[in-house]
Amino acid sequence: MKQLQSIKWEDGKLTIIDQLLLPLETNYIQITSVEEGWDTIHKMQVRGAPAIAIVGCLSLAVELSKKEYQDKEELFGTICTKLDYLVTARPTAVNMKNAVVELKKYVLKLHTDSKVSTQDMVTRTCGWCERFLENDIDNNKKLSDFGAKSVLAAADGVDKVCLLTHCNTGSLATAGYGTALGVVRSLHSAGKLEHIYCTETRPYNQGSRLTTYEIMCEIMPGTLVCDSTVAALMAHKKIHAVLVGADRVAANGDTANKIGTYQLAVVAKHFSVPFYVCAPTTSIDFTLPAGCHIPIEERPNDEMTCVAGKRLACPGISCWNPAFDVTPADLITGGVVTEVGVFKPSELIQKLNTNDTF
Ligand code: MRU
Repeated sequence: MKQLQSIKWEDGKLTIIDQLLLPLETNYIQITSVEEGWDTIHKMQVRGAPAIAIVGCLSLAVELSKKEYQDKEELFGTICTKLDYLVTARPTAVNMKNAVVELKKYVLKLHTDSKVSTQDMVTRTCGWCERFLENDIDNNKKLSDFGAKSVLAAADGVDKVCLLTHCNTGSLATAGYGTALGVVRSLHSAGKLEHIYCTETRPYNQGSRLTTYEIMCEIMPGTLVCDSTVAALMAHKKIHAVLVGADRVAANGDTANKIGTYQLAVVAKHFSVPFYVCAPTTSIDFTLPAGCHIPIEERPNDEMTCVAGKRLACPGISCWNPAFDVTPADLITGGVVTEVGVFKPSELIQKLNTNDTF
C-alpha cells in the first residue's frame, strides 16, 4: 500500500512536503535551522499537531549538529531558548509544548551528568528527537488498531463500516499512518471499510486538499462532503462512527480540534452516532483541567475571504476566524482512542496521568 511520507529524516537531513501546494504539486522542502522550522510550522507548510512537534524537534537536531558549542552551559542555554521559541509557532496544539517539557528534562540530566561531554550531549539530544519521530509512527499504528476494534464493536456486528472524518489526521499530519485517518486505514486494510466520508474543512480546506489526497493515494472508497452537509449525510446514510483528531485534550477530556469539530459532535449526538477523538497521549494536556483554558489560534481573515488567492467575500466585511473549537467531553461518546487503549474522557486523568499537574 502506498503511504505518503510528509516528513523525511535521512542522514541528519530534514525535508518536508510543502502542504500548501498539495494536492496539485508534491514538492519537498529542506529545513536547515530552527528559524526555518518555526516558519514552516507558522505558515502551515507542515501542520497537524504531531507533525508540528516532530518537525520542531528535528529542526533543533539539524541546527545542533551543524554548530560548535564552547561548553555544556552554552549548549544547554541554546537548547532551552530554541525550544521555547518553537512553542510560539502555533498556540493550540499541545504536542510541541509536551515535547519541550520532556526534552528539557532529558537535556537537564545530560547537563548535570559530569560524564557527558558537550559533543555527547549534542548527539544524545539529536537521538532523542529521532526517537520522537519513530515513536509517533509506532504509536499511531497501535492507536489505529485499538480504534478499529472499538469502532467495529460499537457497530454491532456489521461486516463493513461507513465513517465520517474531519480535517486531515493522516500521514501528512503525523510522522506516518495517522490518528483518526489511521483508524480508517487500519479498517481498510482489514477489509472492514465500506466508505469514508471526509469534510472539506473550511476555511483552510485540509479535508479537500489533504485528506482526499491520502484517500486517493491508498485507493480507499471515499467521498468528499461540504461541512454543511453533515446533518443531511447522517439523515440519509448510515454512518457508524465519526472519527476526528485532536490538537489538545484537556484533563477532563474536553478536546480542541479543527474548527467545525464541535458541530460534528453535536450532530453525531443527535443521530446517536458514536463520536471518537483519536489522539496519541502526546496530545493530552494534564496541566489544564478543562477545555475553556485551551488557547485558540485565530488565523488571518484572508484565509476565509479568499480561496486560492481569489477573493470571494465582499471587501470590507469583518471576519472571525478561529482555527479550532473545543468539543465538550460529554459529546465524545465513542471515547478517546490512544496508543494505550480507548478511554472514556472522564477516565483519562485517572488512567493516564502520571504527574501531579494541578
Ligand atoms: O490547523 P491544522 O491543519 O494544523 O489543524 C489540524 C487538526 O486540527 C488536526 O485534526 C489535529 O492536529 C490532529 S492531526 C493528527
